[in-house]
Amino acid sequence: MLADAFGRVATDLRISLTDRCQLRCTYCMPAEGLKWLRKLDLLTDAEIVRLAGLFVTEGVRAIRLTGGEPTAHPRLPAIIAALAALTPRPELSVTTNGVTLAAAAPALAAAGLDRVNVSLDTLDRETYRALTRRDRLADVLAGVAAADAAGLRPVKINAVLMRGVNLAEAPALLEWALRAGYQLRFIEHMPLDPQHGWNRATMVTAEEILALLSERFTLRAVEPGARESAPAELFEVLDGPGADARAGGPGAVGGGAVDRPGAVGAGAWAGGSGAVGTVGVIGSVTRPFCRRCDRVRITADGQLRTCLFARAETDLRGPLRDGGSDAELIALIRAAVAGKQSGHAIGAADFVQPERPMSAIGG
Ligand code: 5AD
Ligand code: SF4
Repeated sequence: MLADAFGRVATDLRISLTDRCQLRCTYCMPAEGLKWLRKLDLLTDAEIVRLAGLFVTEGVRAIRLTGGEPTAHPRLPAIIAALAALTPRPELSVTTNGVTLAAAAPALAAAGLDRVNVSLDTLDRETYRALTRRDRLADVLAGVAAADAAGLRPVKINAVLMRGVNLAEAPALLEWALRAGYQLRFIEHMPLDPQHGWNRATMVTAEEILALLSERFTLRAVEPGARESAPAELFEVLDGPGADARAGGPGAVGGGAVDRPGAVGAGAWAGGSGAVGTVGVIGSVTRPFCRRCDRVRITADGQLRTCLFARAETDLRGPLRDGGSDAELIALIRAAVAGKQSGHAIGAADFVQPERPMSAIGG
């Protein structure tokens, strides 16, 4: 078991497969990209699977593959298949920008992937192009639909709201997600960008997001107990926008798959019969969930990080390549988790952002 000094147990492992990405989201990377890790420094497929196996024997039940953009990894299906063969079989998910998901989804599902989280901050082509510096919205929408069709459900959509960019679009995003049966979660912007552009005074807070959504939707908080370690505060959406939206009128976005179970049919809006779906808000900054955090991360170059905001890492790649035994590696991992910091302390006066940006840590 991977326990720390604050009574938390790590059961959720995130493995970053690459720090590279086809997009250049303004809150994540500069236009010219970053100084990428060298191929030689990346864990090999075999190293990834061996490490994952050790974590599973230590109680990890869920593994999420992240990036950069993990679907850019040429052998992602084979890695997923190998992870799915571990005992006990971990739950497997991928966090992706969705750009190449339309082609990749069937093979990923066939390999044993359970779910995807797709990052999508806007449904407006121009806003998407400005925000990601690439004109790929149509590819992402096709990717989301393909993931859903391949059974990688529930499809979760992650959205970061930036003031003056896509904030006003939050209700439209929610309406789209509800109609299609996707689980939308808004994530507070965290100070993890290499440009150090994060600003507490201007960031969009969970409170503000909820106020904005409440102008158009009736939200009811799902019992906090049901959150367990999940960072998202969940809200049932009890009622939605008016008739024009129900009819798919001018304000409505996209044509969700309203004819399959779980999706929100037109009638569901009108009837007032219970919730029409849920929305999550991840207030990592203003409503931190550090006390319940069950996560650990391995970077693409084999460094163990026990917190997104950790300033220290534990090198696993070196011992792995030096012929370390399973017992030696497990001892290293246990010691690192035992030393996990209590929380991120973003609010503290002496807070210092970690050197690695989000794209090199893994979301
Ligand atoms: N704060 C919050 N979320 C971020 N993401 C990337 N950078 C940040 C940040 N600084 C999101 C992406 C993606 C997930 C991996 O993390 O939009 O959904
Ligand atoms: Fe790529 Fe994700 Fe960073 Fe956007 S946020 S540039 S999709 S790694």
